[in-house]
Amino acid sequence: MAPVLDFPINVGRIDDVQELKKARKTEIPNRFVRDMAERPMLAATTHFPLSTSIPVIDLSKLMRGNKQEFHYEILKLSSSCEEWGFFQVINHGIDLDLLEKIEKVAMEFFMLPVEEKQKYPMAPGTVQGYGQAFVFSEDQKLDWCNMFALGLVPHSIRNPKLWPTNPPTFSETVESYSKEIRKLCKDLLRFIALSLGVGGNVFEEMFGVSVQAMRMNYYPACPRPDLVLGLSPHSDGSALTVLQQGKGSTVGLQILKNGTWVPIQPVRNALVINIGDTIEVLTNGRYKSSEHRAVTHKEKDRLSIVTFYAPSYEIEIGPMAEMVDENNPSKYRRYNHGEYSKHYVTNKLQGKKTLDFAKISPKNTF
Ligand code: OGA
Ligand code: NI
Repeated sequence: MAPVLDFPINVGRIDDVQELKKARKTEIPNRFVRDMAERPMLAATTHFPLSTSIPVIDLSKLMRGNKQEFHYEILKLSSSCEEWGFFQVINHGIDLDLLEKIEKVAMEFFMLPVEEKQKYPMAPGTVQGYGQAFVFSEDQKLDWCNMFALGLVPHSIRNPKLWPTNPPTFSETVESYSKEIRKLCKDLLRFIALSLGVGGNVFEEMFGVSVQAMRMNYYPACPRPDLVLGLSPHSDGSALTVLQQGKGSTVGLQILKNGTWVPIQPVRNALVINIGDTIEVLTNGRYKSSEHRAVTHKEKDRLSIVTFYAPSYEIEIGPMAEMVDENNPSKYRRYNHGEYSKHYVTNKLQGKKTLDFAKISPKNTF
């Protein structure tokens, strides 16, 4: 079951940002111009001290390290998930050629003529295909981004009509890549469970056949990066998200930490991992799904390839018994994960507001 909209919407005209860029107009259409409060303050963020950045986890130390290395890395993992909800993973074991290949086919796809890409349209209110997701009304501001998204696992969420035949190696590359990323997600969830002091298989056993989806985000250069956002602030509805930044990509991803937008400095060959809403709920808020967004660059484009890994739609979610006691009462109710997925994809991206769905007291911010 792929979640779908059950109310009518009118999204108005959605300009394709790559086409706007080609038209070389310096004026940004009003629908992309953010209200003052939402505009990124680029000067403040680009000069952020480099030391203030998300932790880097060496997966090889978790997989094959000696006892001391393992212990140190697990502690780092646990503090990253508690304090940032984000980390970068190096020595992840995924063939670097495969990372290059997926970027190559993604870029080839985005560089196709718009008519070709529109053969795989993301219908309004849906989240697969080419276009802009999470747009539900005519007066909603738009992101300076083109997306191409596919549901991957289980096969029942696939829409074969949306799988491009051009570039010719697109589908096979997506298949190989998604298998590797799936393994990585399973490994990471095992270590995340261990870092919480619960059994390593807890999440895998609970999740059933995990849902896996992929979104390629292409952010063309924007003549006025100070006025627009590449991607609106949000937290991810997944359990875990794996984000690959295009090689040599500019700084674009930012995390909200203590009220400040902190840019993520790309680390060579690393993958960015973030905790999604599901793990926040399961851990009763101990591990955070941090709010994040993407900004654009005046001269350079940027690509990201994002995998969302989440429980099967059928399962019930709620804080795990081990995470609740009299000092830590349940902050979230129990709910069906399919219902949360539907709630997530039928609302615009709006910071962490989507998770109010699960909060016992929505005003309870922490
Ligand atoms: C996402 C996301 C950020 C980026 O796709 O959910 O947060 O840098 N992307 O593309
Ligand atoms: Ni995200």
